[in-house]
Amino acid sequence: MHENGKIISAKKALEFIEDNMILGIGSGSTVKYFIRFLAENIKKGYLRGIKAIPSSYDTRIMLHKLGIECVDLLDCPVIDITIDGADAVYFDKSIIIKGGGGAFLREKIIGYAAKEFIIIVDESKVGRRFPVPVEVLPFGLGYAVKKLGEIGEEIRVRECKGKLGPCISDNGNIIVDVLFDESMLSPGLEKKLNMIPGVLENGIFTRDAKIIVGSEDGNVTVSNL
Ligand code: A5P
Repeated sequence: MHENGKIISAKKALEFIEDNMILGIGSGSTVKYFIRFLAENIKKGYLRGIKAIPSSYDTRIMLHKLGIECVDLLDCPVIDITIDGADAVYFDKSIIIKGGGGAFLREKIIGYAAKEFIIIVDESKVGRRFPVPVEVLPFGLGYAVKKLGEIGEEIRVRECKGKLGPCISDNGNIIVDVLFDESMLSPGLEKKLNMIPGVLENGIFTRDAKIIVGSEDGNVTVSNL
């Protein structure tokens, strides 16, 4: 769904990539298009010296398959550009919501560690209602669920597909999806959620970002969050 918009935004992001850059690479179907285009450009010799820091096992595996060199944040603490997808973009509130794929904790680290953060989305993501994912240390789950339930409208421990029980993140934690009334969505909510003991990170992103929106009819826009 919305494949053309995803492809167009992923292609546009390539224009920002230069030789020898350290790239943070997020997760999701839009990012997969970007990785494919990046690999093609490297193979053709249009881009050289690219190194990547992936946000998930899924992305790490794809980068490896396509021969893109991966490095560790420990070796490269400063990232030139992080490219990532998003689940919802609110220009009016200056926030984006990420984490539909459950990789937002590492995505936030590589997104916030980068000199530049570029988000690639199709037009369906703009202003879309989406629950905020919250990554919780299993030991603190009961308390976190209680506290999140006091401020959220609907709350659900994410269930796994292909395995019984809760969805365990790449970091060994549990993800809780919290649907908020839209009036609650604000930059302050990012900090408020992380104040709950046991909450390790949440999917509200508020750092400055370039947002590339691709539409099905072939248009693309680049705006600042
Ligand atoms: C992964 O945890 C997410 O943050 C993804 O970036 C987000 O879900 C976007 O994925 P799609 O590009 O598949 O919509």
